[in-house]
Amino acid sequence: MIRVLSAAAAATLLLASMGCGSRGAEERAPSPLSEGATRWALRMSPVPPVPADPTNRHSEDERAAELGRRLFHTTALSKGGEIACATCHLEEYGLADGRTLAEGVLPLERHTPALWNVAHQRWFFWDGRADSLWSQALIPLEDPLEHAFARVEVARAIHADDELRASFEEVFGPMADFADLERFPPYARPVPEDDRAHQLAREHARRRAEGDASARPHHEHASSSGFYHPHQRSWDAMSEADREVANGVFVGVGKALAAFQRRARAASSPFDRFVEGLRAGDASMMAELDPLALRGFELFVGEAGCIACHHGPLFTDMEFHDTRVPAVPGAPEDDPGRARGLTSLAASEFGVLSRWSDDPEGPAGDKVRFLPRHAHHSGQEFKTPSLRNVALTPPYMHNGAFATLEDVVDFYVTREGARPSTAPGETILRPLGLGAGDRAALVAFLESLTDETFDPELLAAPR
Ligand code: HEC
Ligand code: HEC
Repeated sequence: MIRVLSAAAAATLLLASMGCGSRGAEERAPSPLSEGATRWALRMSPVPPVPADPTNRHSEDERAAELGRRLFHTTALSKGGEIACATCHLEEYGLADGRTLAEGVLPLERHTPALWNVAHQRWFFWDGRADSLWSQALIPLEDPLEHAFARVEVARAIHADDELRASFEEVFGPMADFADLERFPPYARPVPEDDRAHQLAREHARRRAEGDASARPHHEHASSSGFYHPHQRSWDAMSEADREVANGVFVGVGKALAAFQRRARAASSPFDRFVEGLRAGDASMMAELDPLALRGFELFVGEAGCIACHHGPLFTDMEFHDTRVPAVPGAPEDDPGRARGLTSLAASEFGVLSRWSDDPEGPAGDKVRFLPRHAHHSGQEFKTPSLRNVALTPPYMHNGAFATLEDVVDFYVTREGARPSTAPGETILRPLGLGAGDRAALVAFLESLTDETFDPELLAAPR
């Protein structure tokens, strides 16, 4: 019996070693793709490890990520206590919300993007108005349409919640006494020039000028709208030192949220197994990508020209383009996209070049330092989204104009409904002569970019 077993074992070993040893050039399964497409495929997988972020010294700290988990899921950091980051970035909608346009405390004018592999991005938001993941997080917290909170109130809410406070202090050290209303008045924040409140104030001023008695008068202030926002007034009333303390907590919140969002990884899809098989010459792994999706990839990098902007392991060039997506009700037709994003970026207090960065002199700043050299932005340009997990996150585009991937592909193929051009350039997108079969193939390929192995526990609410 023992002899039989060991003979079988020896045979298995022999077979295995033959398999390995002889997997030379002649026995490798050939690529089912064209030569050009094979080269592209090898460049688009695997997704590299999440890059370090030296501008956030807590980015790889597990305790900061766990604090980030609490902050991401709590509704305590919003006016009325109803909105969390997770209200709009939900696991069941692929870290987006399934809506055309987002809805926070008030309706927004843009669609919620998914957060897959977000820590690999260079610019954040559709218009790239944030240059780091941690500074991105600070914007929804104070946006009157989203969390509608103020940084002092953020700090007060954390201070007042035993669990949040303990978790925060574990990472960032003892908090100041934010319960002291004399030092830390509620709702204190510097109100940026592009704040919705200023637009409303200008609107009220215009109506007052036209004799509308219901329009609210406002106090004079040196903002362009002439409106002294009560949040700004409270902020100005604080001591310099306390403003610094409040900013420090606020930045900490952003850095913890960034550490948490690094976990949103999509890296193991049928396409990735296919490419792994391609490298190994392993036919059974290559077979994980079905023939329709294979044909779709061939089109994606070939005739359909998608690769011009959706390249690299994230399927994005991380840049901005005007694809002339049609307008939708509720969103402005003339959203200036990247052009305004650049203005907001320049006005940001928390950029990667600011003293709030943990590496202000470092390489992360290069993209900002050299920005003027490639500021060719005109028209209505938006960031090329990553296509990983794209099948999980309808609707699509910065304004949610398309309900399905079929609709997106039809738009690229026919260009029907494309907004007229407002700027020269972007001649890449011309109607494509692709029939129904080709379109189905492109959709099948996009669907092959879904990671079915992700563990949702990583991003779930704390227990
Ligand atoms: C009301 C819904 C809503 C809430 C609440 C919300 N977001 Fe978002 N998020 C959006 C929308 C909409 C955008 C795109 C806005 C834009 O580009 O102007 C966005 C963009 C982002 C981005 C940029 C992604 C990219 O690829 O550029 C990140 C990261 C993000 N949100 C994280 C967060 C975090 C962290 C919070 C909580 C502090 C949060 N969001 C709260 C709707 C929301
Ligand atoms: C000129 C660059 C460019 C080319 C070429 C291009 N795209 Fe895009 N793609 C973009 C940009 C920019 C957006 C976002 C546009 C917006 O939101 O207004 C986008 C959005 C998308 C989206 C929506 C993703 C989401 O999460 O909302 C899909 C899907 C997509 N593209 C697939 C394709 C396919 C398939 C092709 C080839 C037929 C293609 N793209 C060609 C730049 C490009």
